[in-house]
Amino acid sequence: KLPAKVRIVDVGPRDGLQNEKTLLPAAVKIELIERLADAGVAAVEATSFVSPKWVPQMADAGEVLRAVMTSPRRHAGVAYPVLTPNLQGFDSAVAAGAKEVAIFAAASESFSQKNINCSIGESLKRFQPVLARAQLLGIPVRGYVSCVAGCPYEGEVAPAQVAAVARELFVMGCYEISLGDTIGIGTPASIQRMLAACAGAVPIDYLAGHYHDTYGMAIANVYASLELGMATFDAAVAGLGGCPYAAGASGNVATEDLVHLLHGLDIETGVDMDRLLDAGSFILAHLQREPLSKAARALLAA
Ligand code: HMG
Ligand code: MG
Repeated sequence: KLPAKVRIVDVGPRDGLQNEKTLLPAAVKIELIERLADAGVAAVEATSFVSPKWVPQMADAGEVLRAVMTSPRRHAGVAYPVLTPNLQGFDSAVAAGAKEVAIFAAASESFSQKNINCSIGESLKRFQPVLARAQLLGIPVRGYVSCVAGCPYEGEVAPAQVAAVARELFVMGCYEISLGDTIGIGTPASIQRMLAACAGAVPIDYLAGHYHDTYGMAIANVYASLELGMATFDAAVAGLGGCPYAAGASGNVATEDLVHLLHGLDIETGVDMDRLLDAGSFILAHLQREPLSKAARALLAA
């Protein structure tokens, strides 16, 4: 039986923009975040407190988050999580008003090295003080696992390895583990095998799907995950995105396509499609690009 309700985390302002070469003004990012919250998604991943040398687009993280958290347009029911790879990022995020953060690990050693410059084991050690400080401040921490269906450097990644890292993050205190198919290599069959392994380590209610659409499989992988009872999905408005440390990786499943699928299945999301399209059109005008979302293209042409 499919879930009656799904929680959507729009990661567009973070995952969607982190790879954009042209630096966007903070005001544009802030407006995008606010329009997505207006559209009714449960959470908008706003930015990341990472090294500006590594990800220049996110250099304005403090300015963006501070504006969003102090805005009269802020929605009480919407979460605005931000990525914090270490204590330095966490402290800056809290100073800018963060009420939720996310840490990010990987299921593959090479990707961990390329992405955050340390081994999986070292990264988990680095996250411990972040979780401890977050707990003291009552800040929920989400945990990511990257490369859950394959790694751009190592190829296949064993489901048991994904489950082991997910389990570690869960035991450390993450309230939810988002499973990232960073390079969009998964198919419904491999995603279900991976999820079956993870659900043996972390209850499915605490797992989220974060599927990139490189091979056009993301929406099929969402459906395959719904079949196993997963009820939280990450998506990016207009299908924006990619990871700077995974060449050729394209955006997340488009939020518009996800909402179209879910509403077609009578699954509640709380999202207003017209407002979502408006958020997408806004950012695409700034990027001078057409939407990757097929639903958005169809609806905007209608
Ligand atoms: P490092 O170089 O190993 O860190 O980077 P370090 O502790 O040795 O510090 C070196 C310099 O970085 C110092 O500055 C620090 O101050 C600075 P310097 O003295 O040289 O001027 N620094 C920072 N600056 C700002 N904010 C910070 C911070 N930490 C150190 N938090 C680090 C380690 C993790 C910081 C680095 O590797 C990094 O920023 N990586 C970025 C990774 C990233 O953003 N990747 C994309 C997001 S993850 C993703 O997209 C996957 C996901 O979507 C799921 C999926 O699809 O699979 C989540
Ligand atoms: Mg991602």
